[in-house]
Amino acid sequence: MKKVSIIGAGNIGSTLALIMAMKELANEIYLLDIHEGPAKGKALDIMESSPILKFGAKVYGTASYEDIKNSDLYIVTAGFPRKPGMTREDLLFKNYEVIKSVCENLNKVLKKDSKVIIVTNPLDIMTYVAVKTLNLPKNQVMGMAGVLDSARFAYFISEKTGISVENIKASVIGGHGDDMVPLVRYSTIAGLPLNFFLKDEEIEELVERTRKGGTEIVNLLGTGSAYFAPAASIFEMSTAILQNKRKVMPCSVYLEGEAGKHYEAEGLCVGVPVILGKDGVEEVILLDLNDEERKMWRKSVESVRKVVETLKSKVNL
Ligand code: NAI
Ligand code: 2OP
Repeated sequence: MKKVSIIGAGNIGSTLALIMAMKELANEIYLLDIHEGPAKGKALDIMESSPILKFGAKVYGTASYEDIKNSDLYIVTAGFPRKPGMTREDLLFKNYEVIKSVCENLNKVLKKDSKVIIVTNPLDIMTYVAVKTLNLPKNQVMGMAGVLDSARFAYFISEKTGISVENIKASVIGGHGDDMVPLVRYSTIAGLPLNFFLKDEEIEELVERTRKGGTEIVNLLGTGSAYFAPAASIFEMSTAILQNKRKVMPCSVYLEGEAGKHYEAEGLCVGVPVILGKDGVEEVILLDLNDEERKMWRKSVESVRKVVETLKSKVNL
């Protein structure tokens, strides 16, 4: 019996609940939101699809943390998207308040071996807030972004080459922002390097499109940000944890000790490849980066560090 609770029944939360129910990843799936009616309405709507889609998982909507007690996995999508006229900094402080209060509430209901995946933006900073606020070991708290950014890179490679996505392995690390680090050297098409199929300038175009992947969707939607691929990415991470798959994927994790030193990011959360399994982040993979990759990596880490410092200059963390 697995219990998963999703905090934030918005676009990503409700899409994820449907995917999880259809795939029966958990027996009980809770959608918690400050707006109880929409949370209950979306849960009921998903359940009404169950006779057609033929799944036995139960989806519940709630506004009460009591209902989500002792979940195996919590996924936090609660927060605000950036609206016109709002700076990144405005969003940072607004979502800090949300994540802080969600984590304080989770501390009252989680169990010792619960895992928590943070999704709210700015991702690496909100993951840091969660690591600092939740009463859980650091390896049980992680942020989702690298799986999404890698999926976007893989899709763009597939679209450009006309080769099946099934043949493509793409890897993106770093902070979830314009300075993210798509790793061309570690991305392959049926095991072959990208430059076997693509010219250097074509690869560079795909790298740039990946970096701006979130903005491309925001501009097309006009009313919010991406949610289908983000929900699929969270599903991938959740499956690795709940089914103890020990899969390697990039996640934003708290870097300290050997990993902190290797990645020159001691005390920050940034996206790196990890092994995900039943204990959460079971190992941080120490990637060998060449000079060019190291330069991009450092730039990305500095962007994350700057925002953490802005936050810490105003709040106690
Ligand atoms: P949304 O606006 O559709 O949903 C957010 C939900 O959170 C709303 O239903 C709202 O009522 C709820 N909420 C707000 N404060 C709450 C609180 N204190 N407790 C419980 N619920 C609360 O947004 P969407 O599209 O689902 O995105 C969610 C977040 O994920 C945003 O911050 C977005 O920027 C981020 N995101 C992150 C990605 C990543 O790769 N990490 C990718 C795409 C979006
Ligand atoms: C995305 O990458 C906006 O972080 C969001 O789609």
